[in-house]
Amino acid sequence: MVDVIGGPSLPQERKLVTSIPGPKSQELIARKNAAVAAGVGVALPVSIVAAGGGVMVDADGNSLIDLGSGIAVTGVGNSAPAVVEAVTAQVQQFTHTCFTVTPYEGYVAVAEKLNEVTPGDHEKRSALFNSGAEAVENAIKIARHFTKKNAVVVFDHAYHGRTNLTMGMTAKNIPYKDGFGPFAPEVYRVATSYPYRDGLSGVEAAAVSITQIEKQVGAGNLAAIIIEPIQGEGGFIEPAAGFLPALQEWATANNVVFILDEVQTGFARTGDMFAANQEGVVPDLVTTAKGIAGGLPLSAVTGRAEIMDSAHAGGLGGTYTGSPIACAAALATIDTYEKENLTERAREIGAIITEFFTELQKTDDRIGDIRGRGAMMAVEFVESGTTTPAAALTSAIAKHAANEAVILLTCGTYGNVVRFLPPLSISDELLREGLQIVADALKANA
Ligand SMILES: Cc1ncc(COP(=O)(O)O)c(C=O)c1O
Repeated sequence: MVDVIGGPSLPQERKLVTSIPGPKSQELIARKNAAVAAGVGVALPVSIVAAGGGVMVDADGNSLIDLGSGIAVTGVGNSAPAVVEAVTAQVQQFTHTCFTVTPYEGYVAVAEKLNEVTPGDHEKRSALFNSGAEAVENAIKIARHFTKKNAVVVFDHAYHGRTNLTMGMTAKNIPYKDGFGPFAPEVYRVATSYPYRDGLSGVEAAAVSITQIEKQVGAGNLAAIIIEPIQGEGGFIEPAAGFLPALQEWATANNVVFILDEVQTGFARTGDMFAANQEGVVPDLVTTAKGIAGGLPLSAVTGRAEIMDSAHAGGLGGTYTGSPIACAAALATIDTYEKENLTERAREIGAIITEFFTELQKTDDRIGDIRGRGAMMAVEFVESGTTTPAAALTSAIAKHAANEAVILLTCGTYGNVVRFLPPLSISDELLREGLQIVADALKANA
């Protein structure tokens, strides 16, 4: 073990003791390759032993700047004190009963809290699950049960998970779908709003999508429309203003359940508790996960009481759904977002990232688009003087960052987007240092 204190009291610094991966990390990766299925890939071959604030420390003693939050999970930081305390107290009381056998308060308290903080002030109900994909699957189940219809509309560039139904709902073939079919039927894909590439207003883009829905699916067959308010894995694609309200209006007028997948955007990430709030959109159902419980596995479907209550008793659940430990973590996590005003912190982070790349873009036209909101920001890289996606450059930037002890995630249908999802507990100094490494990477790959 290296000499570090776990959690948020870690020294907040970028420190390279060895090259990355160092010898101890290499040892772990060799063991991983011998023991773990090859399909479980890793973005950065390190062996993490502690994390907190804005850093992760590896077994060789390197301290890496975290610009990914384990893919938008540790919004409150890793091992946030309130989460550690709540989880410890819960573990000492009981670890599991199965809520659908013998219930406990934590589950109900999380449902009450979700009903309070999610968009809209109508009467709501919640159901808890383990992963984002599981929440999405259940939202579709509920919408089908309520409407007595089957079809589901998803969008270009969508990502909803890796289970069979959610794989079929996800757009990108490699790595998510290739060779894993057949996929579930009655999933239809239509155009999204991608202002950088389609040049359409939100209302124009919605008209294209709605025409596709009407001509290819038919409202009479359609149970649900599901969309990420800002598309995550697809490239942090922020639809043009007016796109989501127009879809919602059409769905409501046609007895179609309008579902927002806020698995990645939810819980202060975008500078608001939910991205839907920023456009005044109130979904019928919302799926949440990731940032909900400070790193413990928990997800939820929350929505209109009449829709949520339409499924019969026993129709929703699972052995571990709404684990008491994850529920304790969620209550402490949501309380931390509220008490520490982390929506405001997300907006500050967004302003720093936007300003940094806007300045850089003036002298480097390979920065095609800077977009996102709050601490969910992205840069789309293109070939100089064009809008042709620059995937090789994007990979080179991520590799350079990894060598310099910065955890940087890429995404996008065309593999040309760097996404910034720092924990909201990162300091301005560390964030700026991480951004500078990206700028250095661009220079090094001129
Ligand atoms: C928008 C969205 N939906 C669903 C999922 C699937 O969540 P999980 O990986 O927890 O199953 C993700 C994960 O990245 C996501 O970003």
